[in-house]
Amino acid sequence: MVIPALIEHKRDGRALSAETWATLIREYAGGRVPDYQMSALLMAVFFRGLEPGELAALTDAMIETGDRLRFDGHPTPVVDKHSTGGIGDKVSLLLAPMVASCGVAVPMMSGRGLGHTGGTLDKLESIPGFRTDLSLAEARRQIDRLGCAMLGQTPEIAPADKRLYALRDVTATVESIPLIAASIMSKKLAEGLNGLVLDVKTGSGAFLRETERAIELARTMIALGEARGCPTVALLTAMDRPLGRACGNALEVEEAIEGLRGSGPADLMAVTYALGVEMLLLVGAATTPDDAHRRLEEAVRSGRALETFARVIEAQGGNPKVVEDPGVLPQAQAVEVYRADRGGVVAAVEPRRLGRAIVELGGGRTRVEDSVDPTVGFVVTVKPGDPVRAGEPIASVFARDEAGIALGLSALQEAVIIGERGRLTPLISHRITARGVEALADGV
Ligand code: URA
Repeated sequence: MVIPALIEHKRDGRALSAETWATLIREYAGGRVPDYQMSALLMAVFFRGLEPGELAALTDAMIETGDRLRFDGHPTPVVDKHSTGGIGDKVSLLLAPMVASCGVAVPMMSGRGLGHTGGTLDKLESIPGFRTDLSLAEARRQIDRLGCAMLGQTPEIAPADKRLYALRDVTATVESIPLIAASIMSKKLAEGLNGLVLDVKTGSGAFLRETERAIELARTMIALGEARGCPTVALLTAMDRPLGRACGNALEVEEAIEGLRGSGPADLMAVTYALGVEMLLLVGAATTPDDAHRRLEEAVRSGRALETFARVIEAQGGNPKVVEDPGVLPQAQAVEVYRADRGGVVAAVEPRRLGRAIVELGGGRTRVEDSVDPTVGFVVTVKPGDPVRAGEPIASVFARDEAGIALGLSALQEAVIIGERGRLTPLISHRITARGVEALADGV
């Protein structure tokens, strides 16, 4: 394979054949193509895009570098959800046990924090003892027993994606629709699902900020899923403010548990239920949206969802007492209340600024090998459009020390803008299926 000729071909805007993509990815995963050549090719893709045939070949080639979860003969349907990433997005922690409690298997395979966004694995690992590095065999056994496992991308799943992802992260080639779509879908399609629901974030805190680009990403992923026998649906949800109130690993676990007790913040619960409804409908576990909603509500009201979460935590080595007593979670050394510096209306709560501050506080990574402080973060109790009085407490900072508190307070001052007016954009703006894009008239 003459790699420079392939790079040149793509650089000049021409398509590579499916066979070329298959060989290239196989050779790269086997360590026979150097990172510097792959980086140049990724940059060419970033600027030139991929034709549908190339995208399909790339995705299939990435899946083929690894193994798959197999659910042949499994007695229940299998469904998962994937979020493109945000701040305060702890939906997976609620959704996996809620949907599993409705009799549908959920192999929730998640990622770590990335850039300014948080990751489900880091959140789960703030529960003392919790192990996310399950093998595929362990995950399968746990799903047979409990209907749910919450794990990271194992070395067996799409290993080419793992290498490519790390390379993209350091070569400014993350924000490419075909590369994001191939990356996400190669992992999800290797899970052997009967259905996949995508939570595609849009707004200033999302990787793809503009609604049109978020819709294009959703359509690209749906086409890949549907063509491979995995019915796929997407909801476009707002990430121009944090989801819920808590932002930061252990703080978000605590809020997720409140949600599983039925008392989570309204926006968090609305997104969780909307995605859960799609999951149940997609695999035929409910007949109508109302029926699906009722089943999920019943799973929460009866305590079954919380019980499932506790059993998953215990099965994965964590301390299940956390669902009764959030004091089991590691606690921040320093906490300080933030008060509105003037009266008015909240114009913005800028999620990207809060996400970056969490990384600076030690709650996220700047290098792959960094460890994460689970205790730090923010609880922000206001949303755009809320009236506030001068001096009113509107947020808290959780940090390691006084320097962290100062950093957090100054981030809040920049992130929470108080003005004369403010407006909440629709929380769930579009529903996208293989049939098309449905704008949800007034949003939710
Ligand atoms: N999440 C992924 O898994 N891959 C991407 O490329 C972006 C977000």
